[in-house]
Amino acid sequence: MEPLVDSWGRAIESLRVSVTDKCNFRCTYCMPAEGLEWLPKREVLSFEEIERLVRVLARMGVREVRLTGGEPLVRRDLPELVRMLAAVPGVEDLSLTTNGVLLDRLAGPLVAAGLKRINVSLDSLSHVRFTELTRRDALDQVLRGLEEAEHYPELRPIKVNCVALKGFTEEEVPALAELARRKPYVVRFIEFMPLDADEVWREDRVLTGAEIRALIEERWPLVELPAAQSSTARRFRFADGAGEIGFVNPVSEPFCSACDRIRLTADGQLRTCLFSRREWDLKGPLRAGASDEELERHIRFAVRHKELKHRISDPGFVRASRSMSQIGG
Ligand code: 5AD
Ligand code: SF4
Repeated sequence: MEPLVDSWGRAIESLRVSVTDKCNFRCTYCMPAEGLEWLPKREVLSFEEIERLVRVLARMGVREVRLTGGEPLVRRDLPELVRMLAAVPGVEDLSLTTNGVLLDRLAGPLVAAGLKRINVSLDSLSHVRFTELTRRDALDQVLRGLEEAEHYPELRPIKVNCVALKGFTEEEVPALAELARRKPYVVRFIEFMPLDADEVWREDRVLTGAEIRALIEERWPLVELPAAQSSTARRFRFADGAGEIGFVNPVSEPFCSACDRIRLTADGQLRTCLFSRREWDLKGPLRAGASDEELERHIRFAVRHKELKHRISDPGFVRASRSMSQIGG
């Protein structure tokens, strides 16, 4: 089978699947306080439909599948989908990005179903500030979810994702760095991107990876580790040997040239970039009875139009057609 390659020569090997646009948090950098209008149920792909598309994509070279939302764990019976996708030939890596609030109940069933890796969002270790940011008083519940994940050595690495906001996250850095030293979690700081529904993003609200690294190194020197070519993160270990930290710097150090990702929204639209202005409908053909070959043609056509790069810092930057929770991080 011909590999899935875009017009700039990048091979597509990684797929993010949003399983729902719903979320039980209202993070200020993502959703409005009142929430968004959810997709009608009939618009959301069934597990069988998701599996069919993953099967077709895996035959074309997609090796890595990450489940996202909204909040993926609010989708009923998610472990069943994990079980179905873990059995797809070619899918070597199956992971999940979650806010962690339902993880204490679901970590066991997810691991049993074949989940390999997990990313848990955690922006503050202070109850008050966690609640301010997510608009939900759920810090202890998320920490319980993380502890539960630790009980399963098959589920590694456990990554903790923190969206870095200027004027907020500076104060969190020491506690999050200590968490990385104390726990088997790889803590990663992610630069704030213009994907928030409230459109408050401005470049001066981005706290860069370099700024955070400097804050950490005031106390603990870091040593850079080699990263995989398609990796979005720069990895560092603490010089004294305790723990690992990562920086995902899409704004200050774009990694588009090594991007191997595409995304499938909960309503079956293929997106070739987080910042895409257009989407490619796969649900329509799928529900109209398209053959695998026809689906493949739709996918190849979309991928040929994959954007060269995001233009976040360009003067004429136009935001994406949907916000983060509707796309799937
Ligand atoms: N900028 C950067 N990261 C974001 N996320 C959500 N919104 C944004 C944004 N505007 C992150 C979440 C989670 C992942 C799904 O995406 O924190 O880790
Ligand atoms: Fe929900 Fe994740 Fe958006 Fe927070 S960032 S509101 S947890 S989808």
